[in-house]
Amino acid sequence: GGAQAALITPDGGALVDLIVPEKDRPAKRQEAGELPAVTLKAIDLEWVHVLSEGWASPLTGFMRQAQYLQTLHFNAIRSEDGQIFNQSVPIVLAIDDEQKGAIGESKAVALKDPQGELVAILRNPEIYKHNKEERIARTWGCTAPGLPYVDEHIAPSGNWLLGGDLEVLQKVKYNDGLDHYRLSPAELRAEFERRQADAVFAFQLRNPVHNGHALLMTDTRQRLLDMGFKNPVLLLHPLGGWVKADDVPLDTRMKQHDKVLEEGVLDPATTVVAIFPSPMLYAGPTEVQWHAKARINAGADFYIVGRDPAGMGHPTEDRDLYDADHGKMVLSMAPGLERLNILPFRVAAYDKSVGKMAFFDPSRKEDFLFISGTKMRGFAKSGELPPQGFMCPGGWQVLVDYYQAKAKE
Ligand code: ADX
Repeated sequence: GGAQAALITPDGGALVDLIVPEKDRPAKRQEAGELPAVTLKAIDLEWVHVLSEGWASPLTGFMRQAQYLQTLHFNAIRSEDGQIFNQSVPIVLAIDDEQKGAIGESKAVALKDPQGELVAILRNPEIYKHNKEERIARTWGCTAPGLPYVDEHIAPSGNWLLGGDLEVLQKVKYNDGLDHYRLSPAELRAEFERRQADAVFAFQLRNPVHNGHALLMTDTRQRLLDMGFKNPVLLLHPLGGWVKADDVPLDTRMKQHDKVLEEGVLDPATTVVAIFPSPMLYAGPTEVQWHAKARINAGADFYIVGRDPAGMGHPTEDRDLYDADHGKMVLSMAPGLERLNILPFRVAAYDKSVGKMAFFDPSRKEDFLFISGTKMRGFAKSGELPPQGFMCPGGWQVLVDYYQAKAKE
């Protein structure tokens, strides 16, 4: 019953949907078959997926030069009618000299997946220079060797960028047993409406859920109830695209997240678990804006942010690449994110005085134990148990199984 508040409006007013209706596909496929073709790398296909479902609304395809420059210089894109939308990371398609030559003056280009299957038509192509150093410096604020996305995806890519509008020939699938978790922004919105959510709070993550993460989520729910919301729904939204080699792989994380719900750390009745299809850049405060912006499009009006979001260790120095507080500071000020309620959190750590994860209290820092990813991997590999209360037992077992199997490889 009752009047239900509408979900937050997507950037640009309506959710972008680039997937061609089924009835039009045969004709489009035939047309695509006669166009010059570019074969995508796996990472490009992930970005096609992101664009196709409107996570980057109002973008309707790979960035043209004007959009790319706005992203690099302003972390935001201005629409024709003067509205500002946050867009902090470039969504671009790199091509090489040979591919550029093959496109020539064509008004459309076929995109194929790495197996050679037709994926999309790119209309009104615009080809411009891919100045990698400038892109890297402006996105990461760092050009030291060893940035994972740069080394793996930008360094080996072509010297041109191909922008243009996309018509995607079918929903992107991975057939890895996890496609049912890959809800589009439209599907998520329908689910929040079905549950009659009056607030939706998103939690982005790329790591297993420990009880410190859970504390942020349960604390947020309580805050929202205190604010008068009757049915706040949590979007537990693990990132499912490319991650660096030493991160926990997606299938293991999904098993771990399932245990967290099964064992009651989070309440399944008020939680939606789905996969965010974006690749990970590890670009800290720049990237966390993208993480937040995409969740507006999925219907979230509250966004949780804690310590060092989208961060990692500096690739060549013994320190974090980004200031651990800058992510939440930047999010609270970012152009185009004014509509999103940012919920910043202090760092959570293991409080030995009570035997559970708690918000760090600097006045009694000797009571706290910081369990880093490295420390956690060490425990799991050696079979040693982390302190009681760090993570639910079933979730921990999933990680032990993964690291022990990996050690035997
Ligand atoms: S991220 O790349 O997705 O940001 P991660 O999965 O580690 O990485 O973090 C998910 C979210 O939890 C981010 O908002 C991050 O700031 C927050 N977070 C992670 N660990 C802690 C912690 N110990 N204390 C507070 N917040 C944390």
